[in-house]
Amino acid sequence: MAALWSGRFEKDMDELVKKFNASIGFDQRLYNEDIDGSIAHVTMLANQGIVTEDERDEIIRGLEQIREEIGASLNSSGDYVEVPGMNGISPLFSYNDEDIHMAIESRLTDLIGDTGKKLHTARSRNDQVQVDCRLYLQRKIAEIAASLARFEEVILNKAEEYVDVLMPGFTHIQHAQPITVGFYFMAYFQMFKRDIERLRDCYDRMDYSPLGSCALAGTTFPIDRHETAAMLGFSGPTENAMDAVSDRDYMIEFLNAASISMMHISRWAEEFTWWNSSEFSFIDLDDSFCTGSSIMPQKKNPDIAELLRGKCGRVYGDLMALLTVMKGTPLAFNKDFQEDKERLFDAADTWQASIEIFANMIEQAAFREDVLNAQLNRGFLNATDVAEHLAQKGIPFREAHEIVGRMVRVCEEKLREGAEKESSGDQFGLEELTEEDLSKIDSRLSKKMLGDISIRACVEARKSFGGTAPDEVRRQIETGRKWLAEFMA
Ligand code: ARG
Repeated sequence: MAALWSGRFEKDMDELVKKFNASIGFDQRLYNEDIDGSIAHVTMLANQGIVTEDERDEIIRGLEQIREEIGASLNSSGDYVEVPGMNGISPLFSYNDEDIHMAIESRLTDLIGDTGKKLHTARSRNDQVQVDCRLYLQRKIAEIAASLARFEEVILNKAEEYVDVLMPGFTHIQHAQPITVGFYFMAYFQMFKRDIERLRDCYDRMDYSPLGSCALAGTTFPIDRHETAAMLGFSGPTENAMDAVSDRDYMIEFLNAASISMMHISRWAEEFTWWNSSEFSFIDLDDSFCTGSSIMPQKKNPDIAELLRGKCGRVYGDLMALLTVMKGTPLAFNKDFQEDKERLFDAADTWQASIEIFANMIEQAAFREDVLNAQLNRGFLNATDVAEHLAQKGIPFREAHEIVGRMVRVCEEKLREGAEKESSGDQFGLEELTEEDLSKIDSRLSKKMLGDISIRACVEARKSFGGTAPDEVRRQIETGRKWLAEFMA
């Protein structure tokens, strides 16, 4: 079968080239958007008197029939039924169709005859593919944002469950200051909130219709681009036809949003991989998110957390691939752009699945309070609090810092000497220093002056806005819930 553009050609395409050139294998998933775009286009053509109302009705009937035919070729999970040797192409299509736009158009002409040939008046595949991709991506963004919103709800519930549970907070992977597990969860809440906001920004910026830009320079037909934009739910038409057919910024923005969000997932997956190890044992990952070893019978491996960390690299790859595809392309359309869709689909699918799986994994992970408690008296978690107490009693903070540093040194000496405790490797804490120890370190020091430096008291006192005190975290949770409710509304 000759291609739709075969008029100026004497020879048919080389068979290998045909396959290499075709995008039907992956752009067939744009079929719904392609048909929506065509229906809006032909409706506008009729309203402008460019085709007749009868022609419009015939074309729309044909397109709806094609929509049904393609829909029926999907299996229950929404994939095309595989046909041997067809590399996953729907049995309705062949490489001769090149892409979904030509496949639908040629099927339309098969179905309704010559009237079908009028559909492509005042448009080009260059604007058509952009309409399809924007519509597709906007739908995908809505789905991914909904998955992120559900994840946020999981995080809020976890934060509430663990709002009073203490744990060590780390810097440089070393014990730093005590925090609550609820506070820790709310840190991730903020990251995924920004991810949702980035998606919303990206959605709004792509919310313009390229339809009617045609090949690159618009058309001599009296089309109404505002009308098609409105019919398709866009907030208006794109301003410049040459930009509209050359622009892939919106895809790159989406891939950027996906990459940042996958980076968040990856950091958390990394933490949980460590925390699930016998060295930490802070958490228990649910069996349903772990795998066994084929040789070591005792193993329960955090494969899914690791795989999620790995998927982040894959999505970064998608972003880098498209940035690189675009960097040397002159205006306007170039066939290089066809490389955009697989990267876009891969990132969207990977990101969406990662969020959904990770949300379930987090929901079912349990923190081990016994282990966390045992960690609280290691690493002088209350050292900063002691310095703050001294500073509040009038010792300048820099001096207080110095004094607490000396206190830590004395504690470490005592631990080394095995004094007061059997040498079990346990911490000798600041709160264990005697009045005598204290006055030797600095004549102004006393137990009374140190105040209550138990870990719980330290955490409860960190009430500054954004701090870790349970009451402050309750406020963060409440603000988070309000934001989420407004987002979902
Ligand atoms: N299949 C192409 C794509 O994926 C359609 C764009 C138009 N192609 C062309 N040679 N003008 O981008």
